[in-house]
Amino acid sequence: MSSPLVDRFGRKITYLRFSLTDRCDFRCVYCMAEDMTFLPRQKILGLEEILQVAETFVSLGVKKIRLTGGEPLIRHNVIWLIERLTALPGLDELLITSNGSQLVKYAPALAKAGIKRINVSLDTLDPTEFKQLTRTGNIEKVLAGIHAAQQAGIEGIKLNVVVMKGRNQHQILPLVDYALANKVDISFIEEMPLGAISEHQRGLTLCTSEEVRDIIQQQYQLMSSAYETNGPSRYWQIPGYQNKIGFISPHSHNFCGDCNRVRVTAEGKLLLCLGNEHSADLKNIIRRYPGEQDKLRETIITAMDLKPERHYFDPTGDVQLVRFMNMTGG
Ligand code: GTP
Ligand code: 5AD
Ligand code: SF4
Repeated sequence: MSSPLVDRFGRKITYLRFSLTDRCDFRCVYCMAEDMTFLPRQKILGLEEILQVAETFVSLGVKKIRLTGGEPLIRHNVIWLIERLTALPGLDELLITSNGSQLVKYAPALAKAGIKRINVSLDTLDPTEFKQLTRTGNIEKVLAGIHAAQQAGIEGIKLNVVVMKGRNQHQILPLVDYALANKVDISFIEEMPLGAISEHQRGLTLCTSEEVRDIIQQQYQLMSSAYETNGPSRYWQIPGYQNKIGFISPHSHNFCGDCNRVRVTAEGKLLLCLGNEHSADLKNIIRRYPGEQDKLRETIITAMDLKPERHYFDPTGDVQLVRFMNMTGG
């Protein structure tokens, strides 16, 4: 069947990012306020409901699903869901974006279920700074988790680094060295203004991808690469190394023209763009019309008309979206 998920700008939607929970065991400074209120259990989709929504998207031409959070791997019985999602006929790739805290525990089960690529947030290698940036995280656990994932046979590990001036900019080269030594890819991300976080001043800390590349080029030659994952990252490589060095540059290099993705939040809201609030309530449909896949399909297809052309993030961070990043997992 040809894809029915096409928006008003002719963009074909083949990639779904599904947030399994808004909860997280970390409190990264750019993602959450120190004092967060999370959704009550009855407001979030059950695992069967998530499966039903995912199946419906796949029946509509989605080929790639990425599980996000909060932290997706702290969702109770997450392996039950992952085993069913990887078995969905028609889905080419099931991927996870994680803070890495649960990988020691779950890496073997994830590999067995068929997970081949995981993105892990890692903004610094310094244990004290890691504690300051995540507020509650333990770097040893995350590094052990990355190792456990590789040992389990998950070869596609990519580190995500949100670069902030005055906080972790000096960690760019150590993180590149770590990536090269450990045979993992790495993406440097320009921070996006989601959720008002009074303890963290976004505008002052933004570090553009070009500034990051300048720092890397003090030590390494960078060549642009044709590699791509159908995500927003543009990749570069260092001669002699296989590792991909990605740059996600929502402010300095807008990539919305090639957007192929939508998101579903833990409470079952279909969000058409990370940087806008256009949405459709899928939870309401599946709970009002249980088992009626056609109603859900119709709602998703109709919602494509709501997808906006692009985000309008304010790079100074003065204007922020009300929604925090943990509702969508980025
Ligand atoms: P792959 O390309 O599949 O490896 O994934 P990814 O790098 O796109 O996904 P990941 O979950 O690791 O996200 C990395 C960063 O990209 C996060 O900061 C996300 O918020 C950001 N990102 C992903 N998709 C979009 C998007 O559509 N728009 C914007 N503005 N940012 C995005
Ligand atoms: N801006 C950019 N990226 C962010 N992430 C979390 N919050 C932000 C933000 N405000 C990234 C983390 C995580 C990914 C899902 O999103 O690095 O790995
Ligand atoms: Fe948790 Fe990810 Fe947000 Fe950090 S960025 S608090 S790891 S959801």
